[in-house]
Amino acid sequence: MQSLIPLSLILTIFDVVAYAVKLPLHVRTTRQPRSVGRRANTTIPVSNYGNAEYYSNITIAGQEVSVLLDTGSSDLWVNFPDTTPTTTDTGKSLTLSYAIGSASGDIHTASVEFYGYSITSQAFLLVTDTSSFSTDIHSQGYDGLMGLGPNEGSRVLDKLNSDSGDSVLTNIFSQVSNSSKFISFLLDRSGDPGSSITGQLTISEYVEGYENITSMPEIDVEDVHKLLESEQHWQALTDKNNGVIGPDGEVIQTDSIVPKAPDGQLVAVFDSGFTFTQVPRAMSDAIYGRVQGASYDSDNEWWTIPCGQLLNVSFNFGGQNYPVHPLDTVDDNFDIKNANGSRVCIGAFQPITTAFSILGNYDMIMGMNFLRNTYTLMNYGNWVDDNANDPYLQLLSITNVEDAHTDFVNVRLGGSDTTSDTKWDLVSTADMQHSPVSAEEKKKLYEEMILSRWPYILAGCLAFILIIIGLIIWRCCCRRKGVKTANTAKKGLWFRKNKAASTSYLPLQDQGMRDSSTVDVSVPYDPHTGHFGNAGYKAL
Ligand SMILES: *[C@@H]1O[C@H](CO)[C@@H](O)[C@H](O)[C@H]1NC(C)=O
Ligand SMILES: *[C@@H]1O[C@H](CO)[C@@H](O)[C@H](O)[C@H]1NC(C)=O
Ligand SMILES: *[C@@H]1O[C@H](CO)[C@@H](O)[C@H](O)[C@H]1NC(C)=O
Ligand SMILES: *[C@@H]1O[C@H](CO)[C@@H](O)[C@H](O)[C@H]1NC(C)=O
Ligand SMILES: *[C@@H]1O[C@H](CO)[C@@H](O)[C@H](O)[C@H]1NC(C)=O
Ligand SMILES: *[C@@H]1O[C@H](CO)[C@@H](O)[C@H](O)[C@H]1NC(C)=O
Repeated sequence: MQSLIPLSLILTIFDVVAYAVKLPLHVRTTRQPRSVGRRANTTIPVSNYGNAEYYSNITIAGQEVSVLLDTGSSDLWVNFPDTTPTTTDTGKSLTLSYAIGSASGDIHTASVEFYGYSITSQAFLLVTDTSSFSTDIHSQGYDGLMGLGPNEGSRVLDKLNSDSGDSVLTNIFSQVSNSSKFISFLLDRSGDPGSSITGQLTISEYVEGYENITSMPEIDVEDVHKLLESEQHWQALTDKNNGVIGPDGEVIQTDSIVPKAPDGQLVAVFDSGFTFTQVPRAMSDAIYGRVQGASYDSDNEWWTIPCGQLLNVSFNFGGQNYPVHPLDTVDDNFDIKNANGSRVCIGAFQPITTAFSILGNYDMIMGMNFLRNTYTLMNYGNWVDDNANDPYLQLLSITNVEDAHTDFVNVRLGGSDTTSDTKWDLVSTADMQHSPVSAEEKKKLYEEMILSRWPYILAGCLAFILIIIGLIIWRCCCRRKGVKTANTAKKGLWFRKNKAASTSYLPLQDQGMRDSSTVDVSVPYDPHTGHFGNAGYKAL
């Protein structure tokens, strides 16, 4: 089951080593298009595999392959299912790690066609072995992945260290004549007769009928980047103090694990490579822990709940409210049974574990179950064009709560609205269930705490050394004035004494950690909330 969840963002975690060595910024000057494409149609059909994966076709060296569309990473890789066409090997090899396994092989170049756009020489990772994947990707309808994230995040580009490693989108945008370098997409919801959405992706064009997305706020993704100085993603801050509204209509209060995040806001990454939205554990508990019959599955790290439970959840970004369709909150796409053998559904706002952020770079990953509720526009701005403004996101809500309610009743409750039956009532917050924090997560939280505090630990050590030096100077210079006849024996004694003193000073480091007030992890770890600090979750 784990296999069904995510791809993509896990890449950030493997960046830990690269964290200190900041990769050079790829400055883009006016450049020659790699090829001039003739566009036939820019509405790109997007296929949907069980509401769990969305993919499109791309033609590489004349062979059509289906690739997962992933806004959370920036590289193209493919494992040709039948015959591998002739492509040019650059001789550089690379391993890309994802939540479900890793893709490794050599970087090749080949001609690429993508719905009317042609690229004569596109770099991509030719994967010859997908055995590390926990799932047979081909049987799920795709043979590779196309990252739609910022070019700067491309590992292929890093490896080739020249424009020849540019991402597919970067090469496509070089052929777009106007300054509108954006993609937009709609993800359809299968199993929802009330939805008439067709999955589609557009490049520098709006989906017909959704043009007024231009009137939605432009959510600046660079703001978050500058704030965090971490790797760039399509990421945004939730609105202050009301980022997420839970099933009881109240704000779910969760503290950000991102050290520099503004108070009352969470950092969310928009990643079409995740089936389920990843949220802080306390938030997942707040959404599902009060449902009667809810039970937490520690193996898969998700809540299971009765499929007929209607839960209203919504998110606020850029001052706009984005409701989630109740069919997307309680997921019915996988055949799951509880311990008693009854059919149950999955809580699609899953505690963030597989993509847990060691360095605390983000709190949530808005996956497909969220993105089905918005028409999403990603404008690449100065990521692809030096003269453009900052890149931004625009989200147009396409879920109407009343219609969604009717839909849910038809699909899950056999058409009769029993949503007000007492069996669907949420239990009191006092009786709420909390999911157990996994051992792995505890370890990571601990590591994160250490990582976020090492400057203080260092400062503590430095202070300690300064004190010692101070003492030595005081001993040698000041005391000498009084004790003129200092002998070696005495000196030895002093050092022995000081050694003892130094051992008792060891807790200084701890002290430094506990007293650091700038980092909001000053209170002991709470296993119920999965967070340091005061009980991360509090229903107002
Ligand atoms: C472009 O798309 C439209 C509508 O989606 C379709 O009618 C038309 O045939 C397409 N054109 C090409 C060249 O594929
Ligand atoms: C991709 O191509 C295959 C056949 O080559 C076709 O069956 C499938 O519908 C295509 N998918 C999309 C999203 O166009
Ligand atoms: C931008 O240019 C492309 C052609 O390169 C065109 O199809 C598209 O409609 C233009 N978009 C806007 C918003 O002007
Ligand atoms: C966008 O247009 C649709 C229909 O044309 C309308 O119902 C909706 O209110 C508009 N939204 C905004 C934000 O203007
Ligand atoms: C969900 O929200 C809608 C609109 O606010 C409301 O009519 C409905 O009663 C809510 N349902 C539940 C179960 O909370
Ligand atoms: C299984 O059934 C028993 C008895 O009806 C009940 O107490 C228990 O909560 C059920 N377990 C789950 C996971 O629903």
